[in-house]
Amino acid sequence: MKLGFWKSEKVKNHESLVENEVLDFHVESTSKVVHKARIFPVWISWILSLVLGIFVILLWILLDLHVDALWSQRQETVAILVDQLEELEFLISATEKTGSSCPYDVEDELKFDCFPQGNADENLCLKRGCCWSFTEKQSVPFCYYPSNYALYSFINVTQLNNSKVNGVVGYLKQTGYSGYPEEIPLLKLMATFETNNRLRVKIVDAMNKRYEVNVLDSLEAEDVLPVHDYDYTFSVNTDITGFSIARKSNQEVIFSTVGVGGFIYANQFLQISSFLPSGNIYGLGEHQDSLRHSTNWQRFALFNHDTVPDKGRNLYGSHPFYLVMENDGLSHGVFLKNSDPMEVILQPTPAITFRALGGIIDFYFFLGPTPQEVIEQYTEVIGRPAMPPYWGLGFHLCRYNYGSLNRTREIWERTRAAGIPFDVQWNDLDYMDTAKDFTYDRNTFAGLPEFVREVHSVGMHYIPLIDPGISNTESKLEYPPYDEGIAMNVFVKNSVDPDALPFVGKVWNTVSTVWPDFTHPNATEYWTNQLKTFHNEVPFDGAWIDMNEPSNFYSGTIDGCPATKWDNPPYTPAVVGDKLCFLTLCMSAGQYGGIHYDLHNLYGFTETIATNFALKQIRGKRPFIISRSTFPGQGHYGGHWSGDVVSDWTNLRRSITSILNYNMFGIPLVGADICGFNGNTTAALCQRWMELGAFYPFSRNHNTDDGIDQDPVALGPAVVEASRKALMVRYMLLPYLYTLFWHAHAHGRTVARPLFFEFPSDRQTYTIDTQFLWGAGLMVAPVLSASTEIIEVYLPRSLWYDFYNLQLISAGGKWTSLPAPLDTIPILLRGGYILPTQAPEVTTALTRVKPFDLLVALNETKQAAGDLYCDDGDTNDAYLLSQFNFIQFEASSNMIKSSVVNWNIESSSSTVRDVTVLGLSDPVSVVTVNGIPHSSFTFNTIKKVLFLKDLKLHLKNPFVISYQ
Ligand SMILES: *[C@@H]1O[C@H](CO)[C@@H](O)[C@H](O)[C@H]1NC(C)=O
Ligand SMILES: *[C@@H]1O[C@H](CO)[C@@H](O)[C@H](O)[C@H]1NC(C)=O
Ligand SMILES: *[C@@H]1O[C@H](CO)[C@@H](O)[C@H](O)[C@H]1NC(C)=O
Ligand SMILES: *[C@@H]1O[C@H](CO)[C@@H](O)[C@H](O)[C@H]1NC(C)=O
Repeated sequence: MKLGFWKSEKVKNHESLVENEVLDFHVESTSKVVHKARIFPVWISWILSLVLGIFVILLWILLDLHVDALWSQRQETVAILVDQLEELEFLISATEKTGSSCPYDVEDELKFDCFPQGNADENLCLKRGCCWSFTEKQSVPFCYYPSNYALYSFINVTQLNNSKVNGVVGYLKQTGYSGYPEEIPLLKLMATFETNNRLRVKIVDAMNKRYEVNVLDSLEAEDVLPVHDYDYTFSVNTDITGFSIARKSNQEVIFSTVGVGGFIYANQFLQISSFLPSGNIYGLGEHQDSLRHSTNWQRFALFNHDTVPDKGRNLYGSHPFYLVMENDGLSHGVFLKNSDPMEVILQPTPAITFRALGGIIDFYFFLGPTPQEVIEQYTEVIGRPAMPPYWGLGFHLCRYNYGSLNRTREIWERTRAAGIPFDVQWNDLDYMDTAKDFTYDRNTFAGLPEFVREVHSVGMHYIPLIDPGISNTESKLEYPPYDEGIAMNVFVKNSVDPDALPFVGKVWNTVSTVWPDFTHPNATEYWTNQLKTFHNEVPFDGAWIDMNEPSNFYSGTIDGCPATKWDNPPYTPAVVGDKLCFLTLCMSAGQYGGIHYDLHNLYGFTETIATNFALKQIRGKRPFIISRSTFPGQGHYGGHWSGDVVSDWTNLRRSITSILNYNMFGIPLVGADICGFNGNTTAALCQRWMELGAFYPFSRNHNTDDGIDQDPVALGPAVVEASRKALMVRYMLLPYLYTLFWHAHAHGRTVARPLFFEFPSDRQTYTIDTQFLWGAGLMVAPVLSASTEIIEVYLPRSLWYDFYNLQLISAGGKWTSLPAPLDTIPILLRGGYILPTQAPEVTTALTRVKPFDLLVALNETKQAAGDLYCDDGDTNDAYLLSQFNFIQFEASSNMIKSSVVNWNIESSSSTVRDVTVLGLSDPVSVVTVNGIPHSSFTFNTIKKVLFLKDLKLHLKNPFVISYQ
């Protein structure tokens, strides 16, 4: 059991490689290169400098004349492979910085903003050593960096290639001033070749330790590989200070800071820009946006904030990760491991700029080359997704302000009575006694413990809302969660001074609120105690952790925030409210792990880690946690819902991008509030939203306190019918969904995925965010507008079968119209895949004891494959402990067979009953099962579908079914 996640022991192998081995390196094996350069007579260097100097000047003139050719020139002329470091040393001595050069004919898209503060004027701009050129065009910066702008130059660069580490270490010294205070005079760049497809580039203060993110549970790094095995090359340019990374297989430069300008490393302003190989950019959360981002001077603030989701706003979580689809269909991903307030700019070059207000530069590059592999590689670093309990994949129902237990029970009962598949009843804030955590209202919610037991007795579960904020004004002994927090010293303080008083703000509590500091070594124990005490009374099954950005009704304290550099940084990203403390804590607040400024974006994540630990302790079972605020690594401990979305068609549509992004962020357990949270839904909207929501990996209908009821029954029979139908499909597909979650847990795959993940060479798929896939084998094509009963769906080249009538729809590669009656969400099966299913019941518990069935959809070559993972659905670490069964299936035009990869438990269900085979050409007249004739089958000659019935095959034993 891991307690104290904040401890530095958690820093794994590859981190220590960077920290220790690289540091040690120049002591043991190095400076061959450096010394060689120094023993040359001075006059040789002089001549070489002269020659190279002339070359550089000629090159510069050339570049001036052909600015638009800069991108390709840059690649050819400036990339210097580390293998040629000897030559590189001469360049170092040759580089006397030529003065700033401000050509007026720089193309707009090559301008990198030198004055993001706004209100730039020419004088201030020139003072920064930048170029000024007025333009009428929207968003194009007036003040931009000259391409030879460099505030740092390399002192030395050393290639490391020993038994422990491969990479490059370089030192950079400051040679100019950016205009930002507290610049770091000496930097150390460490490029570590961690695996064949993962490169880490870390730039730190060479003399002083700075804050670094240290809460991720990475997998162990692989052994160091010989250099020729890496999928990438890393090159430093010491002339125009910068580095670039190329994909070895096709020389595609995936990241290059060379010739961009604007690399700044000041205490509170880290800026780095790079050219990108294509404008197909995904990721960067949490925001509402299209799936593929526009590169039209988009600005994304990454700063966790509680607000009604809309475009352009920084939302609840921060995910400094992006994925690019390159021009030839290959993919890479980039993660900047930094939790400070941040801003990311995309511009049409295409190029990206990161501006972080602190921490260090710590990039991970994942070479893919498929988008799916990028996510697998990313989740190695941030932690693989947790396996949810089986019941957590059922349907969840909640609303803010049922107002009483009676009403909660009434809605719970009427939803079940309507025959809607339903697993988990929730309560929002209103169950609490005056909004105090770990209490329930003894009047309006009298009998809550008994209700929860009743929910359990029918195989269902119960989840309450929990806020991080703790009420702090009860008299002594009246509210132990506060008294114990004080005794254990766990609350966030007014400053980093250990003797400072707790920081006081206010959320829902009647007077005021303090917040546990989840980086404090006592916090996990404190939190576990509180949850345990409450659980002894109300035996809840999971945790819904809300308001953990953290949200605050004040901006700082009731009196605001002290004037410090943390709340008044030299640059503030484009955040909602225009100041960092807006409706959250003061940035100067003190946590055990450091200043809140650095840790703000980790608050919800660290709360999730503590909650995960607590739930394991308390229930002894797999935790189910949904958090509003997130950071990379969240998926390892819990899931997410997309917050307080508005009940309208726009938000219905945007919810798809949001679940796809979170799958890319390694948090597959994600959903939006079905039918919308804020505002009043309508029956028409809620009907379509229930249909789509049945295919969110986390499926919950939830509503605000002042909206009309939106549980399906409240909205009438049409909504009930559509909900029941869609959720029946979900429950039928649970074995497939659960197996997808296992693939996420074990291998880092996505559960819900964009079309381009499966069809990366089909460029048509790059912008599609109105449809999505579950795994590789199932397409979900929801209706996203009112009064629509026919939809246009893009079907990539593949065979696609209608899920409902099993008919072949099209050979794909084009847009196709599909009927979508009001009560039906179009679902398609993809040829080539076998999906395990079960006859749906109204709870997951009842469904899981049914025999399995197989849906076999053959592809063009009459083949299909699939698999099935089963465990008991609730044991912690079942996979790790090998307490699971895993079966693979394969089919062709005349047979289906299974292979048993792992069989270690008695499953609640262990037989295959029916098998349906789609896409056969010839009628079937004879069927044998393990060599014995089987007569219970039919063949539909119109649809070309074979229905095999009553097979009663035990999954423990491999089987072969033949048909002709
Ligand atoms: C590179 O320069 C740094 C800073 O001056 C120095 O500490 C380091 O030892 C040098 N490394 C080599 C290999 O010379
Ligand atoms: C809840 O319902 C029960 C029985 O229907 C009733 O006795 C009780 O007064 C109700 N409680 C509230 C708070 O409405
Ligand atoms: C943890 O709590 C104990 C009391 O239970 C207290 O004595 C100790 O100082 C706390 N630790 C820290 C680091 O504050
Ligand atoms: C929702 O409908 C209710 C009842 O008609 C009304 O009182 C309320 O103001 C509406 N809320 C919004 C946000 O329109």
